[in-house]
Amino acid sequence: MEDWAQCLDEAVRVARRAGQVVACAVQQEKCVRSKSTPTDLVTEADQQVEELIISTLRSRFPEHRFIGEESSAAGVKCELTDSPTWIIDPIDGTCNFVHSFPMVAVSIGFAVRKELEFGVIYHCFDETLYTARKGHGAFRNGVRLQVSKEKDVSKSLVLTEIGAKRDSATLDIFLGNMKKMLSAPTHGVRIIGSSTLALCLVASGSAEAYYQFGLHCWDIAAATVIIREAGGVVMDTTGNTLDLMSRRVVAAGTREIADYVVKQLQPINYGRDDSD
Ligand code: IPD
Repeated sequence: MEDWAQCLDEAVRVARRAGQVVACAVQQEKCVRSKSTPTDLVTEADQQVEELIISTLRSRFPEHRFIGEESSAAGVKCELTDSPTWIIDPIDGTCNFVHSFPMVAVSIGFAVRKELEFGVIYHCFDETLYTARKGHGAFRNGVRLQVSKEKDVSKSLVLTEIGAKRDSATLDIFLGNMKKMLSAPTHGVRIIGSSTLALCLVASGSAEAYYQFGLHCWDIAAATVIIREAGGVVMDTTGNTLDLMSRRVVAAGTREIADYVVKQLQPINYGRDDSD
């Protein structure tokens, strides 16, 4: 059976290269446009970096399939099949990138038969590399990661992200969910503007939980392997098995805290990544 180690090595190489391109681009003038909503941003750098990653990987693995944030925005069908599939976010934290707010990452996940095999996330500002392969542990710059073992939500730090919808009804639910988390009470709730790096903070034990409605498969693919391999749990916001295409997630260091978060959340419907 293939262990995909070669693919992981290639993912690390291309993530570092892409991260360097992003780090240079952040210092230059940016051409910013919006996609699904005025707050869903894209720059030329997002498109160039995705092209760099996909063309590099496709030349090495021509029979593999690719799901990328910017290809999907350009109309390529976002479909997870049984084939080996790369799931790519070239710049996670595009709004941060636009403002030079130093929370920006390249994220590359890899799935076979719809099962996530490995994940690579590269923090472009501080050159931190997160990697994990199923059954082989999770690492930050080669040092093994371990999630927080805290079970008591009143001693937890919780992370979330806002998502692109800003209509009043969506914001009421978003703020209601946040109020519930704050009044649990937790130690605090943080928003850093990058789903992938927030999830890496859970994997690192720097936060106990993460939840979000409105993210995409490319925001969670790599990070899911990293959290699971660091000993944590990643699930659907209903408490069921994670569905990569469902645009919602709860992740935590322990099952107890994940279950607590799941019980508090009122859902926000963002549809699915794989709907036409
Ligand atoms: C977004 C960021 C943001 C989160 C969105 C993501 P992008 O990714 O991670 O924090 O709220 O849901 O889509 O667009 O910057 O790659």
